[in-house]
Amino acid sequence: MFAVPPNTVALGGIPAGAHPALIARQYAEDRSRWRELLRYDPDVRFVALVDRTDELEVWLMSWLPGQSTDLHDHAQAAGAFTVVCGTLTERVARGASGERPSKVLHQVAAGQSRVFGPGYVHQVRNAGVDPAVSLHVYRSVRPAMGHFQVDPVTGLAQVPPAL
Ligand SMILES: [Fe+2]
Repeated sequence: MFAVPPNTVALGGIPAGAHPALIARQYAEDRSRWRELLRYDPDVRFVALVDRTDELEVWLMSWLPGQSTDLHDHAQAAGAFTVVCGTLTERVARGASGERPSKVLHQVAAGQSRVFGPGYVHQVRNAGVDPAVSLHVYRSVRPAMGHFQVDPVTGLAQVPPAL
């Protein structure tokens, strides 16, 4: 069952048929498009490009228990991800630069999606005990991520990527 949790960022100006959440769900449901690519890597979180057009990129990701991203954004890209199996925890940091951000946690179970717009800062983690798989759609391409940290005094701040 497909469900978008509350507090999901709405995307304006995108035709319904081209919405990243719809495309992510379609790819998630059609395993023939990516099952040969799927791997689980205990050392580095697994990411593979599934498809690329002039308007979007589709990425497959697997998450062993404990694997996570850092706190990041996707610059000016909009997008969505759908969980295929397992459960992911998304931590969203909201607030102006230099302000102490509010942090919101979303449990995203199999069949559920999250949508994001430009400048959306989040961290995704498999906090469960089972592996997870997800499909991610970025419009127009998956840009270099901006990396962030939350300072308890000064708030949300962009930082260089970890080496
Ligand atoms: Fe992300």
